[in-house]
Amino acid sequence: MFKLKQLFSRQKKTYANKPDLAGVPYHVAVIMDGNGRWAKKRGLPRIAGHRAGMESVKEITTAADDIGVQILTLYAFSTENWKRPEQEVDFLMRLPQEFLLLELETLMKNNVRIRILGDLDALPSHTQTSINAACEKTKNNTGMVLNIALNYGSRTEILDAIRSIAKDVKAGLLDPESIDESAINSRLMTQGIPDPDLLIRTSGELRLSNFLLWQCAYTELWFTDIFWPDFKREHFYEAIRAYQKRGRRFGGLK
Ligand code: IPE
Ligand code: IPE
Ligand code: MG
Repeated sequence: MFKLKQLFSRQKKTYANKPDLAGVPYHVAVIMDGNGRWAKKRGLPRIAGHRAGMESVKEITTAADDIGVQILTLYAFSTENWKRPEQEVDFLMRLPQEFLLLELETLMKNNVRIRILGDLDALPSHTQTSINAACEKTKNNTGMVLNIALNYGSRTEILDAIRSIAKDVKAGLLDPESIDESAINSRLMTQGIPDPDLLIRTSGELRLSNFLLWQCAYTELWFTDIFWPDFKREHFYEAIRAYQKRGRRFGGLK
């Protein structure tokens, strides 16, 4: 009821190119890319790009919630991003807690639930503490789920699922013949979350970079040259409207 009321009141707001609310994708995933190039273009250090990118995180979270997206998954740090210079990694590890410190109150007010995809154990303890507190605090919220993929890698996720299946087979708990898609789905970090309907990648790169490989089997892909710090509500709605024009067939006939 709260969510409905919230949606109704927000629907009164008019945005230039607001999509048709009837066909809004349930789950949108975003590869937030181009922070470094955004900064470089301005003669700034890469970390300035990451800081500017935080503003887009805030704006897109609100923009998604405003039109009734139920799940928003944001790729914040990949398992491969550890290859970057230590100083940049340190900075990136501080951003989630900074975001949560500034935004938690608003997220609570908007009934948003925070979830994390990725291996939290490998993160610095200060990052873990703030994330765990935010997940705990928002766990009973019933509005949009904001999934933050942090130290996430799809191949590791799939390998872990395979390992878990192998253990169950070895222990005699699972018959190899009965291994099906749900046996994998239930062992992924996205367990219980429907696959993304739409995946957006900014900055002109046309690849998945180890993001939700299994889950994106039938996801609609949308790419833009815009760097993440410049990606705003209007661009997000442009992606949604493009999605709404697609015909999803899932291998069948329309
Ligand atoms: C995305 O921006 C943020 C992370 C990957 C953490 P980048 O830092 O990859 O920016 P570019 O791609 O180098 O411009
Ligand atoms: C993907 O971007 C990871 C995140 C946005 C967190 P990268 O910038 O790491 O991807 P590549 O290296 O260009 O493939
Ligand atoms: Mg990049």
